[in-house]
Amino acid sequence: MSLKDHPILKAARGEEVPYTPVWIMRQAGRYSEKYRKIREKAGSFMDLCKNPELAAEVSLIPIDEIGVDAAILFSDILVPVEKMGIGVKFLEGKGPVLEPKISSLEDVRRLRVPVPQKELSYVLDTIKLIKERLKDRPLIGFSGAPFTLASYILEGGSSKNYIKAKSVMWNERELWDSLMEKLSETVFKYLRSQIEAGVDLVQIFDSWMGVLSKEDYEEFAFPYTEKVVNRLKEEFPQVPIIHFGVNSQHLLEVNNRLKVDVIGLDWKTEIPYALTKVDKAIQGNLDPVALFADQETIESKVRKIVADGLKAKGHIFNLGHGILPPTDPKKAKFLVETVHRISKELRG
Ligand code: CP3
Repeated sequence: MSLKDHPILKAARGEEVPYTPVWIMRQAGRYSEKYRKIREKAGSFMDLCKNPELAAEVSLIPIDEIGVDAAILFSDILVPVEKMGIGVKFLEGKGPVLEPKISSLEDVRRLRVPVPQKELSYVLDTIKLIKERLKDRPLIGFSGAPFTLASYILEGGSSKNYIKAKSVMWNERELWDSLMEKLSETVFKYLRSQIEAGVDLVQIFDSWMGVLSKEDYEEFAFPYTEKVVNRLKEEFPQVPIIHFGVNSQHLLEVNNRLKVDVIGLDWKTEIPYALTKVDKAIQGNLDPVALFADQETIESKVRKIVADGLKAKGHIFNLGHGILPPTDPKKAKFLVETVHRISKELRG
């Protein structure tokens, strides 16, 4: 089988597949003991992201341990932000901290658009190492979307209410537009370099877009994501793009206008409802906490999602957000096997 006929790529393109392919957001992460060991050896989380040998090893863990259909590059959406000129630290139990905070037009003018081949070469080297070792399955590249990255940059980290980000958006239009412009350029170049280095498809994480009303999303965030997607599709029409965010049911119709191939759904979005708004392939959307339920419960939830997914143009199974660190890897493995078994059964 040539890699371009892999079920994940076929499902993304809306072609017939023998079973529903599955991968898991944050599959290369802390629920795995092997990950925790490598992470300890590497030093900080950022050190691990910058170590191609170890990062490649981490990317491949879930292929062996839980049998997912694709690997995802091990990195973080904030990795390119550091090269724009903002310090990024991950503090234990606190999440990311970004410094200095960006609050004026002058600050934005100082931010740079990184040249990935130079400043982010460790990411591209990681991709090349994974591709040498992963022969039979696709590799997913990724980036944050301009809005989600802008929210981290303006808030200085994670946020509950996005007061700073939204204030800039509404009150300081020039600052907002120049930041979003720089981020769009950064995200486009970063994803292009990942594709050139060998990834087979990409996911754009606009994780927090759902905090915007439809009206604000359309005015302040969507146009920048659209620009990135259009430029990628112009250069790489054959590389599928997945677009994902949480709590964004109200934005499904708008996002369906993006030239992406797959719309990622969080676990609160009902697939039959999504299919009234989206005519593309879908990805998702089991509640990550369902992996703490017994096998019977997992199986019945999987059956419903797989059956609903058969009505979409294409379906890639995933959780509705990242796998949680306390998850038992055996449950994740059971999930993957169950998706494969049930989806074959339902296809007859
Ligand atoms: O999916 C994968 O396995 C690939 C690697 C990956 C990571 N982060 C590794 C990571 C990917 C695709 C991401 C994306 C990411 N990072 C997003 C978008 C996805 C989403 O959750 O909506 C966001 C918002 C971030 C920012 C981020 N990174 C936060 C808020 C945190 C701290 C919270 C936490 O879970 O600790 C991180 C850290 C992070 N990124 C870890 C991993 C494995 C944990 C670091 C560690 O302690 O080892």
